Amino acid sequence: MLTSIKTNQFEGNKSKELGMMYFRVAIILFGAQLLFGLVAAFQFIFPGFLFEVLDFSVARTVHINALVVWMLYAMIGSVYFLMPDETGVETVGIGIGKLAFWVLTAAVTVVVLVYILIQVGPGKESSIWLINEGREYLEAPRWADIGIVVVVLTFYWNVFATFMKAKVKTGIMQVLIADLMALAGLYLAGMFFTDNISMDQYWWWWVIHLWVEATWEVFVGALAAYALIKLIGAKREIVEMWLWIEVLMLFGSGILGLGHHYFWIGTPEYWWEIGALFSALEPVPLVAMFVHVLYDWGKEQGVAHAKGETGSVVTNSPAMSWVVLNAFGNFLGAGIWGFFHTLPQVNIYTHGTQFTAAHGHLSFFGAYATILIGMMYIGIQYAYGIKIMKATFKSKMGIFLIAFGVMGMTIALTIAGYEQVLIERAELGAGWSAFFTAQEMPWYVQAQLWRAIMGVVTFVGFIYLVWDMLTIGKQAKLEQEGA
Ligand code: HEM
Ligand code: HEM
Ligand SMILES: [Fe+2]
Repeated sequence: MLTSIKTNQFEGNKSKELGMMYFRVAIILFGAQLLFGLVAAFQFIFPGFLFEVLDFSVARTVHINALVVWMLYAMIGSVYFLMPDETGVETVGIGIGKLAFWVLTAAVTVVVLVYILIQVGPGKESSIWLINEGREYLEAPRWADIGIVVVVLTFYWNVFATFMKAKVKTGIMQVLIADLMALAGLYLAGMFFTDNISMDQYWWWWVIHLWVEATWEVFVGALAAYALIKLIGAKREIVEMWLWIEVLMLFGSGILGLGHHYFWIGTPEYWWEIGALFSALEPVPLVAMFVHVLYDWGKEQGVAHAKGETGSVVTNSPAMSWVVLNAFGNFLGAGIWGFFHTLPQVNIYTHGTQFTAAHGHLSFFGAYATILIGMMYIGIQYAYGIKIMKATFKSKMGIFLIAFGVMGMTIALTIAGYEQVLIERAELGAGWSAFFTAQEMPWYVQAQLWRAIMGVVTFVGFIYLVWDMLTIGKQAKLEQEGA
């Protein structure tokens, strides 16, 4: 029925422009993430590197928080960008949305500066409020936490009010409305303070796991559905049907799959069975997503070829490449690398080794970075008014080097983790000195070297990506006008 909603009277310009503002900050933060990652990677090889100037603990904190924050920026940007197409009306509350954007950006800048300027000192009640809350990935101090909640509620209100005004309520929007509410609400679970470290970890996982393995996954499912309609004219009925199936499966397996983080933090032992069973089921929807993207496309092309036509034209090939990479990356990073260590029998050996870092890199990159970059390319195409945007040499170098670099880092870290499992855990019994002995072994040291090299490759890819993003639009526009 609704393959694409026509917006004749207006283009939803304001909402899309606001989305682009979020995309710009997202890509800057992505660059910062990589730079701080490189510093932390060099510190594995030269432990004295930047000691007391930029300590490992700070470089790591900035690396992973910049990651989470740039992804949230790109997600908010994507919603503002796609909403006019999905609702057929201009977004409500653009003014307040812009204000929220500036407040958030100022807060993020202050928080990062404080991390960098104040690196050591006692953890007190006041440091929780002003410096760092100490929860990995959610280290923002309390004042910023509260600010983030206000900004996100503003955003949610805008989305909700726009949805209510929409003449047609598409499946993509319905899923987003429910999903964003869960995403925003979960953040609260990681905000209150308790002295009991088990309880603290218990609730902290509600945010981390239930974000990346439930709400974010559903979110990118909605983006993939939107992108496939936009890029190759996929049928709305088909992509939305899959979206609903994924919602059902991910919320099912993802929620009880939370148990795979409850094995060793002092929670009751029944989590071993629950965690093992349900988290092992988690890859099922990821595989479905993977099959669906490629199958749908292949089927469409097949039908077209049978009719003697050339098949659907890809309207934006760099974006399409990133979306296809998303299907592979999600499947490999979350599905395969996640499944590897999700059973308690395996996890007792791999828990907290570099193996975990291998999975963390490939999954965050594969499941989220890829599709969000794809959305940015769709944004560029719109901003320059281009009908068909073709990949340039720079687009190809960007995607190739980044994907190659991240995969290289993942393999290196997997080897380092394997060595830790054998020496630190199996042979030496997982004690404090075993931890250090394992890190001096040649395989571990070499793996860390390779990770740093592959990190540099990733960063060179990032430079190509940004260079492409700054030039592809202008170039395509000139070609379009010349043709
Ligand atoms: C896109 C989805 C996913 C992302 C972004 C992701 C990311 C991460 C990250 C960053 C960690 C490390 C957390 C820490 O610092 O302690 C982690 C841990 C873990 N993940 Fe995932 N993950 C995803 C999906 C999955 C799936 C589908 C499975 C299972 C099939 C899985 C299994 C695990 C397990 C068992 C751990 C704990 C590792 C340990 O004990 O050290 N993950 N994940
Ligand atoms: C220039 C490329 C990169 C380098 C050199 C790098 C390096 C690092 C280092 C050294 C750590 C700390 C590991 C530890 O504590 O043992 C780390 C953690 C992490 N990085 Fe990166 N990184 C890079 C790119 C990325 C990308 C592209 C992503 C995802 C999109 C990412 C996601 C993460 C995550 C999720 C963690 C936490 C892992 C965990 O707790 O297990 N990094 N990275
Ligand atoms: Fe998890």
